[in-house]
Amino acid sequence: MKIPKTFRSKMAKITIIGAGNVGSQVAFCTALKNLGDVVLLDITDGLAKGKALDILSSMPIAKRDIKIIGTESYDDTKDSDIVIITAGVVRKPGMSRDNLIKTNAKIMSSIIPQILEHSPNSILIIVSNPLDAMVQLAYKLSGFPKERVMGMAGVLDSSRFRTFIAEELNVSVKDIETWVLGGHGDLMVPLIHHSKVKDQALSKIMDEEKLNEVIKRVQNGGSEIVQLLKTGSAFFAPGIATVDMIESILKDEKRILPSTVLLEGEYGVNGLFVGAPARLGRKGVEEVIEFELTDKEKEMFQKSVEHIKSLIEKI
Ligand code: NAI
Ligand code: 2OP
Repeated sequence: MKIPKTFRSKMAKITIIGAGNVGSQVAFCTALKNLGDVVLLDITDGLAKGKALDILSSMPIAKRDIKIIGTESYDDTKDSDIVIITAGVVRKPGMSRDNLIKTNAKIMSSIIPQILEHSPNSILIIVSNPLDAMVQLAYKLSGFPKERVMGMAGVLDSSRFRTFIAEELNVSVKDIETWVLGGHGDLMVPLIHHSKVKDQALSKIMDEEKLNEVIKRVQNGGSEIVQLLKTGSAFFAPGIATVDMIESILKDEKRILPSTVLLEGEYGVNGLFVGAPARLGRKGVEEVIEFELTDKEKEMFQKSVEHIKSLIEKI
């Protein structure tokens, strides 16, 4: 099978840095949804090429004519519309996402200059952990406007929230709306007053004890999977969560998705990337939406913000 080295098509160009578990899942879902031409890049020789070829070979069954290549060279990423960064190490059982900061900050620092050189007009979606600190770092190193830098966490955490509510109440995930704000860690803030099953507020249809159990499970959702896998972390849900953001941006859907975005006064936070509802369209982050929070949610949000601040100081 001959794979083209570069693309000359009118489709959007989507580059995914890191062809590990999350990166390859992002590539696969992006291809299935036919969102654009995909370039998958990894430093490990042959890894991205092998995964890209595998994905390409699955497309006749999916009835999709897509373009995807794997590469080790940033030349192939030239003029990407959107760049997803999933490169980095993952935690092992017993570790927190924060333990990854030094290694992943080094990796991020090697990637951003390449993106600046090859795709200076791209939109960046950061996935590597610890998420909030990595987005902050990517913003600082790139010098991109705030609209073009964001992180993926809230879509994943909110999806976990929906999953556990659906299990608990035996309802369809389609009838559930949930919101998780704040940092991507144990201090994340699942909003019970803005989360609903159809039109009914969650706080009204679940008893407090059950609701607290579900919230704990959402906050520990990533660790639960790390404990089970032992050698890696979640990737199916993180992959499709990232693609939800890519789709809203590239199709200019302007959907409001919980995303890690730069707050400049919203929620009383200034100059820090934190998870908040954001309208995502072709310009990137087009608006940050301010939900009214209860006093308890405000307090939880503030704690999460303080944690992000302390984390950033460690870079
Ligand atoms: P993985 O270990 O399967 O893949 C990471 C890949 O990055 C490897 O293939 C490695 O060769 C590559 N890599 C390392 N340095 C690189 C560099 N300088 N340039 C290009 N590629 C490089 O890990 P996985 O499961 O894909 O996770 C990736 C990252 O995403 C981790 O930091 C993980 O914690 C994070 N993550 C974040 C989530 C979120 O909600 N924000 C959800 C899931 C994972
Ligand atoms: C997760 O929440 C590892 O951050 C990743 O699964």
